[in-house]
Amino acid sequence: MRRNRGSIALKLHADSRRSKPPAMTPPTTIAPVATGMRLIPGFLDREQQKHLVDELREVVRLAPLFTPIMPGTGKPFSVRMTNCGPLGWVSDKNGYRYEPAHPLTRNPWPPIPDILLNAWAALTDYPAAPQACLVNYYGPAARMGMHQDRDEEDFSAPVVSVSLGATGRFRIGGIVRSAPTRSFPLSSGDILVLGGASRLAFHGIDRIVAGTSTLLPDGGRINLTLRRVSKPTTASRDDAITPRSQA
Ligand code: SIN
Ligand code: MN
Repeated sequence: MRRNRGSIALKLHADSRRSKPPAMTPPTTIAPVATGMRLIPGFLDREQQKHLVDELREVVRLAPLFTPIMPGTGKPFSVRMTNCGPLGWVSDKNGYRYEPAHPLTRNPWPPIPDILLNAWAALTDYPAAPQACLVNYYGPAARMGMHQDRDEEDFSAPVVSVSLGATGRFRIGGIVRSAPTRSFPLSSGDILVLGGASRLAFHGIDRIVAGTSTLLPDGGRINLTLRRVSKPTTASRDDAITPRSQA
């Protein structure tokens, strides 16, 4: 698998102008694609996407993108990644897991931007906030092999996936690797919710479609995956959802 070269961190710093968080736009189109799965095309409008990219520049400044390693083969992923939230997903020779700190800086991950917490609150019925937001950066040649998201304790929480920048060709199958698959494009601003029967479906990104967005330099793509890692405890409601930017 090819490694991505070049520095998204520097490019993300190119424009650090910050603006007031835009109001959340309610979903207008919901196209069911598979059981328990919801695709909301254009959930974030262009201004919201630009605002979120500004927020991600700060995330990447505090928690630089790193290249994860596959535990079995020791090969590098073709995406580079970082995280925000109390926990972050990492992969190295010791396996896949969630960690409270960045593997290189050892600092806690920065907070999840409000616009993402609000999207989680608007699109899920889950009674607590997400604990992890994985930030994947795809260069033009990056892809993501078919896999399940199964490093979490609570599969009753959906996975909420936000796409920014170039279109990615998303592929999804069933809960066994051999099940038939189908693919569809994920464009900038789209949100995909994998819940219910689709929560443990195998999925991946076949390829990035060049020339489909001007949001990011070099036609790259960012995918933000919001996940709940542990079951919320009734004793502590610290992590109850408190949407902030929404009226
Ligand atoms: C992932 O499953 O980790 C990423 C999916 C995507 O990039 O849309
Ligand atoms: Mn995944």
